[in-house]
Amino acid sequence: MYYPDELVEEIRTRTDIVNLISPYVHLKKNGSNYVGLCPFHSEKTPSFSVSPSKQMYYCFGCGAGGNAYTFVMEYDNVEFKEAVEILADKAGVSLPTATYSEEAKAASNRKKRMIDIHSDAATYYYSILKSPMGTTGYGYFKDRGLTDETILRFGLGYTGKSNGLYRYLKQKGYGDEELNFSGLFTFDERYGAREKFWNRVMFPIMDANNRVIAFGGRVLGDALPKYLNSPETQIFDKSRNLYGLNYARHSKAKYFLLCEGYMDVIALHQAGFDSAVASLGTSLTGMQANLIKRYVNRVIITYDSDGAGMKAALRAIPILKGAGLSVKVLDMKPYKDPDEFIKNLGREEYEKRIEKAVNGFEFEISVLEKQFDFSDPEQKTDFYLEMAKKLLTFEDELERDNYIQAMAAKYNIRTEDLKKFVAKQSASMAGIPVAVNKKTYNQSDNKKKEDGQIQAQALLLTWMANEPSLIDLLGEFLTEEDFFEEPYRMTAHYVYTDYAESKTINPAKIINMFTDVDEQKTVAGIFNRHLAEENLSRQEKEKVLNELVKRIKKQNVDRLAKSATTPEELQKLMKMMIEMQKMHISL
Ligand code: CTP
Ligand code: MN
Repeated sequence: MYYPDELVEEIRTRTDIVNLISPYVHLKKNGSNYVGLCPFHSEKTPSFSVSPSKQMYYCFGCGAGGNAYTFVMEYDNVEFKEAVEILADKAGVSLPTATYSEEAKAASNRKKRMIDIHSDAATYYYSILKSPMGTTGYGYFKDRGLTDETILRFGLGYTGKSNGLYRYLKQKGYGDEELNFSGLFTFDERYGAREKFWNRVMFPIMDANNRVIAFGGRVLGDALPKYLNSPETQIFDKSRNLYGLNYARHSKAKYFLLCEGYMDVIALHQAGFDSAVASLGTSLTGMQANLIKRYVNRVIITYDSDGAGMKAALRAIPILKGAGLSVKVLDMKPYKDPDEFIKNLGREEYEKRIEKAVNGFEFEISVLEKQFDFSDPEQKTDFYLEMAKKLLTFEDELERDNYIQAMAAKYNIRTEDLKKFVAKQSASMAGIPVAVNKKTYNQSDNKKKEDGQIQAQALLLTWMANEPSLIDLLGEFLTEEDFFEEPYRMTAHYVYTDYAESKTINPAKIINMFTDVDEQKTVAGIFNRHLAEENLSRQEKEKVLNELVKRIKKQNVDRLAKSATTPEELQKLMKMMIEMQKMHISL
């Protein structure tokens, strides 16, 4: 952390979140909040809400949320430090220039040097590939069907078999320390610098602006590991980049083709599909999905056709949908991946597969279908219930109805019956008890219980943030120890501390205690549960409050009961239970 916490907090208090967000989102006043169309996912009806009193935003559609800093970080895709600088500038707060100019300058200089090292390394690898020393590497790419133009376009290279890169970079004036940070070398006291990549063909990884930020290197034969990638460095965060994005972002295609490997991206581009990208040797992340959403609204997954590829697709679909993308899945059978497919059947056939790609939902259902034995009525019901759960993920009612109809027809169930399953699932997810066969649905029952626990804790925390005096009122009935699951426990801790110190609760400040953007999102979610308490009569409110507190208490008793062994512990439990029954909080 570069800036002192107090300063960070001062900048935040001088920033009004509504003013900050309104240039980007058309906000309309709605009660005590503002609402608008979420800038982080595509939607037709507003579910993005900004609260002036809490100084937070939250999207009920995609779960994006946080304070002013989170917004800048997410919207401008910048690190926390940069967000502080942006907001300080807007708020007219001057940052400590001494630390700022020295540290920041040094950091940005280091970053620039790092990029230069990578650019020079790429030039070196490419020149080796094209030199007499590179015939094996060059031959490898040629055998795989790449043209010289493609090799140049992707800056492909070859390491050779000597320690040439080190010498080359030293000659260019780089020092050992910065070379060490580049991740291209390992330094050994006895042997000095050793190149990480040796006798491999090289794939420079470029960011969206064509700057080389890392490398992937492939062995020429069958040795392992097949691919070796740069470690994460100051300039390379693999969860925030996509291979091929630098070209795909300029494609005219309305969709991205999402594949698994370097060679898939390259083969697709060479065949004219210039919107192919790949996540970098990891499973797709939410940040990558958001990155895609900046350029297109549709993704066609073209992962390997084996079991692993199918699993990866199932994982990726909700992540992509969560970013507001519409998703299709392309079937490459009988070939393994796009590279092999194109080599064997050519671009026209691949084009046809794009047209035939099924949407993400149908793909999920077709996989689901295989897990159930339809001759067993109970399993058949289970299948319908699972399908209903997936149908619920369609926000648009019309779209959902269309799918219900299509699925009903496909799986021989009356539309009305399938609708009932969907209603049942919807009710059970909202925590409303519905009559389902207890024996068969044990598992989902457990899950429901978990969700219920979390919901009660989150609801109460939202309530506390709305009405801090509730903490005094609850007094010993409910203390911060009663919140036991993370991040509720931590959040409750800050809520109670904040209140003890200032008799107020400041959700936006609490969010800052969490450094991870995903955590910040969750915490923003905790403070934004839908509470209908404003519309309740005092009596009704009292009833709801008592129920909530009892539920949380009961969860604690249950939890302790599982681990209690000594008579003292059991006695304490008994006491808690009796107190709980007697407890009544009056408003
Ligand atoms: N990968 C990786 N590290 C490995 C194996 C794979 O980072 N040890 C990543 C690479 O980005 C690779 C992708 O996962 O491109 C897909 O791996 P795989 O399907 O095994 O390779 P292919 O793309 O088919 O590679 P090739 O065609 O060169 O055999
Ligand atoms: Mn392959």
